[in-house]
Amino acid sequence: MTRHGSPEPPERVRQLFDRIAPRYDQLNDLLSLGQHRLWKRQTLALLQPRPGERWLDLCCGTGDLALLLAERVRPGGRVLGLDAAAAPLALARSRSAARPWLALDWSQADALAVPEPDGAFDGAVMAYGLRNLPDAAAALAEVRRLLAPGGRAAVLDFNRTDGLPALVQRLALRRLVVPVARRAGLEDDYAYLERSLASFPSGVEQERLAQAAGFTQARHRPLAGGLMGVLLLAASP
Ligand SMILES: C[S@@+](CC[C@H](N)C(=O)[O-])C[C@H]1O[C@@H](n2cnc3c(N)ncnc32)[C@H](O)[C@@H]1O
Repeated sequence: MTRHGSPEPPERVRQLFDRIAPRYDQLNDLLSLGQHRLWKRQTLALLQPRPGERWLDLCCGTGDLALLLAERVRPGGRVLGLDAAAAPLALARSRSAARPWLALDWSQADALAVPEPDGAFDGAVMAYGLRNLPDAAAALAEVRRLLAPGGRAAVLDFNRTDGLPALVQRLALRRLVVPVARRAGLEDDYAYLERSLASFPSGVEQERLAQAAGFTQARHRPLAGGLMGVLLLAASP
């Protein structure tokens, strides 16, 4: 089986996200026309996190999904946001400090070696993270390890596909994303996006990797007209 993973070494990826952290949220809103918020909400609607549950947001970045999750698991639940980079996590921490009623913890760690015991979570999410990890198969196995029996998870990212959506993605990345990032002085960092997509597994490949990682259910669904995709996962009860 082909090994899928980021084309950049993990340390370079971490440095990239540390560098772009101060502009990340603004550029994300601008470049997706705010749609990333909708795709994240759609992902949570498919997962149905419930009050009292314990959830994990892997590659949480500046923490928007972890914050949404923390609202959903109230009362009694808890969310851990985990990221390898310090700068986005610092922003996540300050966001959650403004909402002290949310049960949220933050951890700087590697998504391939999460310092939490087996079966610690009822659910896990990873938004725009898998593409940045050195080994997608190992990452899915780590998500599986962390889930309790019957646990569920979702991996949201660009959809690696062919045909019109691929053409639209390429055009958007080259004509919109990179030029906008250039104005922010971050051209090279955002050019990495297209390269990371080239070595990212397709939906069908993601399903196969997840089955090999031990998930009993793995279904990839296109979102946003096929531009994005979400891999929905369930562990055996
Ligand atoms: C594109 S951002 C996504 C952030 C957030 N989930 C979102 O949807 O906006 C990818 C994140 O993955 C993190 N990351 C990259 N490699 C990682 C690793 N090995 N372990 C944990 N986080 C990692 C980066 O620091 C970055 O914050």
